[in-house]
Amino acid sequence: MENSLKGQKAIITGSSSGIGKGVALSLAAAGADIVINYAGSKEKAEEVASLASQFGGKVLVIKADVSDETEVKEMFSKTIQELGTVDILVNNAGLQKDAPFHEMTLDQWNKVIGINLTGQFLCAREAVNEFLRRGINPHISKALGKIICMSSVHQEIPWSEHVNYAASKGGIMLLMKSIAQGYAAKKIRINSICPGAIRTPINKDAWGTPDSLNKLMNLIPYKRIGEIEDIGKVAVWLASDQSDHINGTSIFVDGGMTLYPGFTTNG
Ligand code: BGC
Repeated sequence: MENSLKGQKAIITGSSSGIGKGVALSLAAAGADIVINYAGSKEKAEEVASLASQFGGKVLVIKADVSDETEVKEMFSKTIQELGTVDILVNNAGLQKDAPFHEMTLDQWNKVIGINLTGQFLCAREAVNEFLRRGINPHISKALGKIICMSSVHQEIPWSEHVNYAASKGGIMLLMKSIAQGYAAKKIRINSICPGAIRTPINKDAWGTPDSLNKLMNLIPYKRIGEIEDIGKVAVWLASDQSDHINGTSIFVDGGMTLYPGFTTNG
C-alpha cells in the first residue's frame, strides 16, 4: 500500500487524537498530502502534524467545528487554496455525551447529532461539490473522489444510555448509502468504517484498568482491543483504487463485536 495515495489530497476531520490521528498518519504514510482538522487542542493537532510530516507529504492544520457551516466551508476553501483540491474526505470527527435516556438533555442530544451527523453532512456536501468542480484526473485516481464515513458498531448494535450516539451512527449509515446511490454514476465512492472498541480517549473507561479491559473482552470474540492502526489500514485501502469497486458499504473493524458474543455458549 506504500505510495498508493501519492498525489492525493485528504481532509481528515477530528484528527488531533484517537481514530482520526491513526487515519491521518496512515494516509500520510501512503503518500497523501493531508489536512489535520481539529476543534479543541491546537497543540495536539500540531503534534500529529509533525509526526505526519516525516512521511514527506504536505501537512496542513486547520481548526474548524464540523457542525458549523461557515467553518466547514472555510476549511474546504483553505485546503483548495493550499493543496489545489480535495480527493479524499475522511468524515471522522465525533463525540459522546452519555446519559440514561430519561435524563438526557436536549443539549446532549443536539451536540452529538450536530457533530456526528450534521458534521458529516456538511463536510460531505463540500467534498462532493469540489469533486464535481475539479473533474476526474485518471493519473490520480479512477474515482472522481472518495469519502469515508467513520461510523461505529453502534449503527447496528443498539446502545442504551447512549441513544444520541447510536442514533447519530444509524443516521450516518443511510446518509452514506443515499449519497453513494446518488453519485455513483459520477464516480464518487463513499463507504463507512464501523469500528468496535478501539483504544482511544473516547472509551478509556472501557480499557483503562486491567479489570475493565478484561470485562471488555466479553464483548470481543477475537479477544483483543482494536488499535488506531487497525482503522488506518482499512481507511488507506478504502481511499485507494485497490477498492475501486467498493461503494456504499460498511466495513466492520470490530474483532467480531457484532457477532452477538452473548450467544457463544448457547445464549
Ligand atoms: C464508541 C466506544 C465503544 C465502542 C464499542 C464506539 O463507537 O465510541 O465508546 O467502546 O463503540 O462499544
